Amino acid sequence: MEKPKVLITKKDVPQIAIRKLRELCDVDIYEGSYPMPRDQLLARVAGKDGLFCFITDRINTKVLDAAGRSLRVISTMSVGYDHLSLEEMKSRDIKVGYTPDVLTDATAELTLALLLATWRRLLQANAAATGQRCCYRPTLLLQANAELNNGGWGRCVWGPVWMLGKGLSGSTVGIFGLGRTGQAVLKRLAGFNVAKFLYTSTTKKELGGSYPVAEFVSFERLLQESDFVICTAALNEQTRAKFNKDAFAAMKNSAVFINTSRGGLVDQEALVWAIQTGQIRAAGLDVMTPEPLPADHILTTLPNCTLLPHLGTSEERTRAAMAELAADNLLGGLIVGKQMPKRLC
Ligand code: DGY
Repeated sequence: MEKPKVLITKKDVPQIAIRKLRELCDVDIYEGSYPMPRDQLLARVAGKDGLFCFITDRINTKVLDAAGRSLRVISTMSVGYDHLSLEEMKSRDIKVGYTPDVLTDATAELTLALLLATWRRLLQANAAATGQRCCYRPTLLLQANAELNNGGWGRCVWGPVWMLGKGLSGSTVGIFGLGRTGQAVLKRLAGFNVAKFLYTSTTKKELGGSYPVAEFVSFERLLQESDFVICTAALNEQTRAKFNKDAFAAMKNSAVFINTSRGGLVDQEALVWAIQTGQIRAAGLDVMTPEPLPADHILTTLPNCTLLPHLGTSEERTRAAMAELAADNLLGGLIVGKQMPKRLC
């Protein structure tokens, strides 16, 4: 019997997934540079039964049309699915798989790392210590580290009010979106002596005793009372550009804003305004618009804005688990007798 034909849109996939797929499918892997160019995607998806894709691939009507009627299963190696035209897939009876749960811990850890780096100004301090005035771009940071080894620290002086950060102890932390990641962040913050946790979510959550107490509040109250606002909500039509000028204007001037969800939740011009005018104190972003952010984007020039290149799930075991789950989803949808472990629709 002929094996199902699948397309993987990127070559750097943990081997476990490729091995599993090769056993039962005829696998076409895009070997070129990242991300797969649109014309290549449209050409190579034609006639495929399954598609293994990533957040960098916009899978819309055009791609589905190019694939044709053979396409039965789409598996994204991500928990987010705002890059997929889900309604269109449903209407064509295409099964869709995604990779929740296996990446929650890694994303929560990264959120904390970003929060710590932002509120204690670690990158800014690193830049100061190494003689760079302000540098967040990876290449500049490498240069900065090189300078540190060459004694760059000698050019700045320790001082009692120099490079002051903002502590979590005694603060109010507000989490926007208390789903899997939000809950994992909440749990990890339990040891930081936070005075009060607030959250805004689609529904009130009944959390077990292993979580610190958190109060379900309106978005307005979350913004007004939080010293740290952490955004971990999914991007959808209800949350798109939720953090707009009004939202930033409602925050404390001392507030620190962290986003590890999707750039689309933030009106980025409003965020730039809020930071430049001192409306809020700092921001830590793992996600932004567009991605990759152009190196000369204004966000890269703001000293109190810590930027990471979408690294929430970039942890060895996590990426292997995501790849394996995505492969299992694809096989589950394609091979008779198998099930999709995590099916969206
Ligand atoms: C996801 O899974 O949606 C992350 O943003 C990327 O791994």
